[in-house]
Amino acid sequence: MNDISRSFVASHVLGIPKSGIREFFAIAATMEDAISLGIGEPDFVTPWHIREAAIFALEQGKTSYTDNLGLIRLRREVAKYVEKNYGASYDAPTEVLIGVGVSEILDCALRAIINPGDKIMYHEPCFVSYSPSIRLCHGVPVGVPTRPEDNFEFNIDEVRRCWQPGCKAIIINFPTNPTGGIATRKQLEDLAEFAKEKNMLVISDEIYSELTYDGGHASIASIPGMKERVVFLHGFSKAFAMTGFRIGYACAPKPIIEGMMKTHQYALMCAPIISQEAAIEALMNGRPDMEKMREQYMRRRDYIVGRFNGMGLECHLPKGTFYAFPSVKKFGMTSMDFAKFILEKAKVAVVPGNAFGPSGEGFLRASFSTSYENLVEAADRMEKAIETLKA
Ligand SMILES: Cc1ncc(COP(=O)(O)O)c(C=O)c1O
Repeated sequence: MNDISRSFVASHVLGIPKSGIREFFAIAATMEDAISLGIGEPDFVTPWHIREAAIFALEQGKTSYTDNLGLIRLRREVAKYVEKNYGASYDAPTEVLIGVGVSEILDCALRAIINPGDKIMYHEPCFVSYSPSIRLCHGVPVGVPTRPEDNFEFNIDEVRRCWQPGCKAIIINFPTNPTGGIATRKQLEDLAEFAKEKNMLVISDEIYSELTYDGGHASIASIPGMKERVVFLHGFSKAFAMTGFRIGYACAPKPIIEGMMKTHQYALMCAPIISQEAAIEALMNGRPDMEKMREQYMRRRDYIVGRFNGMGLECHLPKGTFYAFPSVKKFGMTSMDFAKFILEKAKVAVVPGNAFGPSGEGFLRASFSTSYENLVEAADRMEKAIETLKA
């Protein structure tokens, strides 16, 4: 008998909801002349010398697989870059893994460490993939809320309150997508103490670290005694405007890298060689271009946050990333209703804050990785639409 009623999809996969962002952008995609502040990637094209390195790699006939861990030349540059900028030293041949973006490398880390039922903590609102990625590995996500009244700052007391027996690791992300928050060295030291006390691993996603505008960036990997229990994740997508190259890396103790390698080598084999060659160029010579992009983001941040506050959308100043996270609470609407209202009335697409976790309800994520002119136009349109609510 041909039983077509059977679902071939695993139950833990069926249980994962679709991304809130996708649902929302399906509506936005049907509108003409909408301005999108929803995008989570740089509006800049990858700097020319980096693209040129990719082209040159092709010209030289570099079209093969690489070592599963990544080109040793790239791993050496990564180790140098991480030591210089993050204060943690790693052995390039054994403690660095190159992967297909932080997305893949995070998945490798989770698959390497999670036994079914292990609990993994993360502070939220956060990057949309953390909770589903944990569940796809048969782990149990444990969200740690952050509070709007503290501008969503990381709070160690809340981490202690949410901790449960069986928590094996915590994912942290500073600067934070979507709130733009950063962590001070003192906050990281408190977390380091806690991780030692509970014998937990810290997975630190530092993908926005170069895009820190105030206060400077500190890495938990640099805190004495932490290297053994930190998986440092970073990539090229944001700071070097290289999302399409799909390249990221992990630095971690050898046994964890070996565990991650198993997923990476059997699922992906290796990151594309052309992207790896481009990444070497980015690390060696990309700093000045990155600084220029950073200055642009900062100028845009100051503008859009000022405009949001001026039109009644209370907004704290994000200390990093390219996202503003204004509140819509005083308009008495949900994030989704307000985002739909702004899309329909102003033709401006923003992401409802609850797409990033329950603590994001009542907020919007507006990306300022779009041109200054677009930001001016979007702010003018939003201001007009909001006026109609006040009437
Ligand atoms: C916090 C965070 N981590 C990881 C990623 C994924 O980056 P990649 O392009 O390296 O996969 C993103 C992308 O938006 C992100 O916001």
